[in-house]
Amino acid sequence: MRRRISMLAGAAVLSLTLAACGGSGSSPSADEANPAEATGEVGVFTWWADGSEKAGLDALVKIFNDQYPDLKFDNLAVAGGAGSQAKSVLAAQLQAGNPPDSFQAHAGAELQDYIVADQLEDLSSFYESEDLTSVFPKDLLDRLTVDGKIYSVPSNIHRANVVWANVEVLEKAGLDPEKPPADLDEWFAAMDKIKATGVTPLAVAGTWTQVQLFENIMLATLGAEGYNGLWDGSTDWSSAEVTKGIENYKKALSYTNSDRNTLSDWGPATQLVEDGSAAYNVMGDWAEAKFQQDGMVAGEDYVYFPTPGTEGVFDFLADSFTLPAGAPNPAGAKAWLKTISSVEGQEAFNAAKGSIPARTDVPTDNFSEYQKSAIEDFSSDTIVSSLAHGAAVPISWLNELSTAVSKFEGTGDVDALQKSAASIAEKFSQ
Ligand code: GAL
Repeated sequence: MRRRISMLAGAAVLSLTLAACGGSGSSPSADEANPAEATGEVGVFTWWADGSEKAGLDALVKIFNDQYPDLKFDNLAVAGGAGSQAKSVLAAQLQAGNPPDSFQAHAGAELQDYIVADQLEDLSSFYESEDLTSVFPKDLLDRLTVDGKIYSVPSNIHRANVVWANVEVLEKAGLDPEKPPADLDEWFAAMDKIKATGVTPLAVAGTWTQVQLFENIMLATLGAEGYNGLWDGSTDWSSAEVTKGIENYKKALSYTNSDRNTLSDWGPATQLVEDGSAAYNVMGDWAEAKFQQDGMVAGEDYVYFPTPGTEGVFDFLADSFTLPAGAPNPAGAKAWLKTISSVEGQEAFNAAKGSIPARTDVPTDNFSEYQKSAIEDFSSDTIVSSLAHGAAVPISWLNELSTAVSKFEGTGDVDALQKSAASIAEKFSQ
């Protein structure tokens, strides 16, 4: 694990889209900032700007307001799922030396980007004073750590390889909602049946959701080891298996709604499944929060299962929060981080967000059945890192690969995508 992280951190050095300025390293003021003495506003940057995602953030802010009645939460959210707009806005702010008090970042390679660019304060002493090292899974802490220093506080764990399906649509096509397809071939056969009923088999939206679908299909085709190898250099991007994966992706895309690029985000794609206008949507489990918020009943209105071919694998991502170098209100930021790391904060936030708590000691009795199953799976499945959500590769690698996947949506040229992906991987692995 540690070896992989340092390889990715090395890649990040070569490839920063986030310029290496603005960071002042660990300033004594940040280390000494005392949350108990915090006053004023705390500006927090996320991309949880609307719908069920905002409801998750609101649940966390409510706990923050209870715990720190004298502090004012300043919501700096920038809309766009997966940070598709927010990350570049944030990069510009950091570059201009204008950081928020805290910002959302994915555990793993994405966080390494900010660390390597010296844009984050070391939170090791915060972890010590709050006694946090034993309450998070070690694998997760490793993804927040560089050279023994830990740089952010995780709020949750999401899963990116879940299919959400409309029960009625499946039944009309003669499919049993309780029996998910075992592999991609069975799934494609099911989608042919759905297509014959005149309903769109698979809902997807714009580029980042297509990248997430691509990641799922590569995982299903290559298996966990082969998929991991795409990011650590042990799987050859020019191999026949990768060609097969891209062909499978092309086939999956052929079942999707033709207006995919005009759907503004993941919400409208998931909505197609809720409405019965599409059968399936491959979406991270923030979709569970939307189904719940919209009053849909699991087992009756919708079902969920791991993307066919990925059973037993948990495609992992985690959100975490940072203390940026030069944050205007470091004491306030630490108060926010205390709320995030608290049992109450993790319980309220995750119950509303569809994710599972990053802490391992949070009561989950009022969590949905889906969430309980995700907690179970996380403890027993093979864990792999999500591409689309910052866990597997640095931001610059993801951005270039996203451009190639987006081009493919128009051309369907398997060879061109494979060659681009191979040269991007080569560039960033050096
Ligand atoms: C992910 C993020 C999730 C959720 C999702 C859709 O990148 O980690 O918390 O917000 O994007 O926007």
